[in-house]
Amino acid sequence: MLKKIKTSFTDTMGINYPIIAAPMFLVSNTDIVVEASEAGGIGTFPALNYRPIEQYAEALKNIKSRTKKPIGVNVIVNKSNTRQGEDIKVALDHGVEMFITSLGSPKSVIQDAHKNGAKVFCDVTNLEHALKVQDMGADGVIAVGAGAGGHAGPISPLVLIPWLKTRLQIPIIAAGGIAHGSMISACLALGASGVSVGTRFIASREAQVDQSYKDAIVNSTPEDIVMTTRVSGTPAAVINTPYVQKMGTDLPWAMKVLKDYKLTKKYMVPLIHLMGMKSLEAAATKPTWKTVWTAGQSVGLVEEILTVKEIYAKLINEYDESVKSLSQLGLE
Ligand SMILES: Cc1cc2nc3c(=O)[nH]c(=O)nc-3n(C[C@H](O)[C@H](O)[C@H](O)COP(=O)(O)O)c2cc1C
Repeated sequence: MLKKIKTSFTDTMGINYPIIAAPMFLVSNTDIVVEASEAGGIGTFPALNYRPIEQYAEALKNIKSRTKKPIGVNVIVNKSNTRQGEDIKVALDHGVEMFITSLGSPKSVIQDAHKNGAKVFCDVTNLEHALKVQDMGADGVIAVGAGAGGHAGPISPLVLIPWLKTRLQIPIIAAGGIAHGSMISACLALGASGVSVGTRFIASREAQVDQSYKDAIVNSTPEDIVMTTRVSGTPAAVINTPYVQKMGTDLPWAMKVLKDYKLTKKYMVPLIHLMGMKSLEAAATKPTWKTVWTAGQSVGLVEEILTVKEIYAKLINEYDESVKSLSQLGLE
């Protein structure tokens, strides 16, 4: 197996492979983080996977006692997250090396993290937001493209990465649809310095989600993925289960009106979030007919449930093979 894939991202983080095990609500846990970082990539998890805050501190302590390699925490930086300040402080107290911010403005996270020498990578789906976070001092962006699990962006990664590259000086990490090593070499060829992989790790031995969710990842095709606003109000990618089909992928008319109306917006948005989180939680952890399973189009390339270590080895070997086959091109 390749000992290293060197990029500006691996240099910045001091890791061997530019492959992030992406933060996934309800899925990422201490075992996935430890195994991903020990495999030479970097494991990350959403702070909110551990509630209340004492459990989050406990999780960080557990991870840090099992690996000396860098790890990352994902913080949602909008008003729905009342724990934001504490999430950062507790992480910095435990020596977390990397933050991934999503949804709102990462300004204060960048300031706090930099005091401790930690790096901040911000989820973006377009150039405007990417330029803003670059100006704020972000260490890199995570370019979330079409096909991603979770809150996917609308732009094809084939366009998104080179587009961001035209104006950004900071590293770009590609996210969305990556489940095979050839996709990693493709992203690096487009100008990315690394990749962030989510959906693939749902079908890992370490993920503590219901077996039926893992089986659905293995058995689904890209055509089974639909976008719905019912989970959080923002389009999110889910498997088109009979329950999703029955519910439809749009918010009910009345909710949409209240969400967009100035006076009720500030109550509706967190309420929709909360209701969505509850339904995801129920579906991910126990068998229920109300199945709302978040996943991206890369389900089509996930054929078996493996350990995190095996997934890393497979991705790296596939990367190596694809780089070798590419280097044959153009040779007579
Ligand atoms: C089940 C699931 C939960 C997710 N939860 C979060 C989250 O809490 N915070 C976040 O920033 N991104 C979240 N994401 C997005 C991932 O961090 C990552 O950007 C995405 O999974 C990459 O696309 P892929 O799934 O096609 O590999 C989630 C994705 C999935 C599949």
